[in-house]
Amino acid sequence: MITINEHYLKLQASYLFSDIAKRVATFQEQNPEKDIIKLGIGDVTRGLPAACVQALHEAVDEMAVDASFHGYGPEQGYDFLRTAIAENDFQSRGADIAADEIFVSDGAKCDTGNIQELFSTEAVVAIPDPVYPVYLDTNVMAGRTGEFADGRYQGIYYLDSVKDNSFVPDLPSKKVDLIYLCFPNNPTGSTITKEQLKTWVDYARENKALILFDAAYEAFIRDESLPKSIYEVEGAKEVAVEFRSFSKNAGFTGTRCAYTVVPKECTVYDSKGDKHQLHPLWNRRHCTKFNGVSYPIQKAAEAVYSEAGKAQINELTDYYLKNAALIKKEITALGFDSVGGDNSPYIWIDGQGRDSWEFFDMLLNKAGVVCTPGSGFGKCGQGYIRLSAFNSYENVEKAMARISQALK
Ligand code: MLT
Repeated sequence: MITINEHYLKLQASYLFSDIAKRVATFQEQNPEKDIIKLGIGDVTRGLPAACVQALHEAVDEMAVDASFHGYGPEQGYDFLRTAIAENDFQSRGADIAADEIFVSDGAKCDTGNIQELFSTEAVVAIPDPVYPVYLDTNVMAGRTGEFADGRYQGIYYLDSVKDNSFVPDLPSKKVDLIYLCFPNNPTGSTITKEQLKTWVDYARENKALILFDAAYEAFIRDESLPKSIYEVEGAKEVAVEFRSFSKNAGFTGTRCAYTVVPKECTVYDSKGDKHQLHPLWNRRHCTKFNGVSYPIQKAAEAVYSEAGKAQINELTDYYLKNAALIKKEITALGFDSVGGDNSPYIWIDGQGRDSWEFFDMLLNKAGVVCTPGSGFGKCGQGYIRLSAFNSYENVEKAMARISQALK
């Protein structure tokens, strides 16, 4: 008899974004004449940067010829991309990260979801609330939690991110082993200062904990005083893994390329308390379960770091930030409190006492606008909705006019 991993039965319904997509599809079927504007899932809408497209074309042509054809590449990524990443994303900001500490992959979702399998099922996990659901669900699947009760899984240490702490969680009041952080934050759009991040690094060093730092939205930071990488904080290399993505800066959501940084100094422990490097463990997992990102896609990602690529990425993220500013301005004019939207493509809106899903349904029915209900990201998200800036400026203008009308 084939028996299942019963931890899967603890999971709540379907994955948040599939759930929303189903509701929207049903609404569209029932209202075929309605024009729907999607400001829900953070999926980009603009074409790939020209520098990336050119590199992609050239790489495809190389693949057509025996002499320049590429079969299996290195699982960790080609040196040309790992070197470009290390130099541009880290060394240029004073973070001493080497090319062989970069692991290229097909997505930060997969990497943030997969990395937990390296750690004991006994590890005490601290997860923000609200949170990108992948961190939590993958720990549920692995059996690191008890049942779901009263909106939360037993056994998880929740890091409340609420108005009172400006959506930057306080340090845990008890000892935890594995800490998930994401800044600029998904879903709230909040940011963290270097001083605040240092308190987390210090906590992890004192408690032999590990921080999993998701920096998928760093390209939206315009305030130069804010850290783009956790490795800008002294000592972070010993206690932190960082996740990055080409999805949101270069529009690779459908193209797929990301990377994870595991510094050689990053230390973890066995049950006897003996030290181990995390790097070879992640390398072992990566080589066993992953066969690398395709050569043309890695060439396209490398082009992000060319002079033309850098300018185009800046223009692309500026475009979405202009949308975010418009959303923020309009929602504020309607009298709603919000956070995010300055150094982030997400705006987290306090629904003034409305239930998140009711707010979602109201915006869909009355304005034809799709948002993401805050409660889908956790108990602390109840009463909030998230609007994403990933759409055309014209659609965002139209959406905000319709929302204003609907809320009047
Ligand atoms: C989101 O909307 O939270 C993100 O787009 C989801 C993701 O990147 O997987």
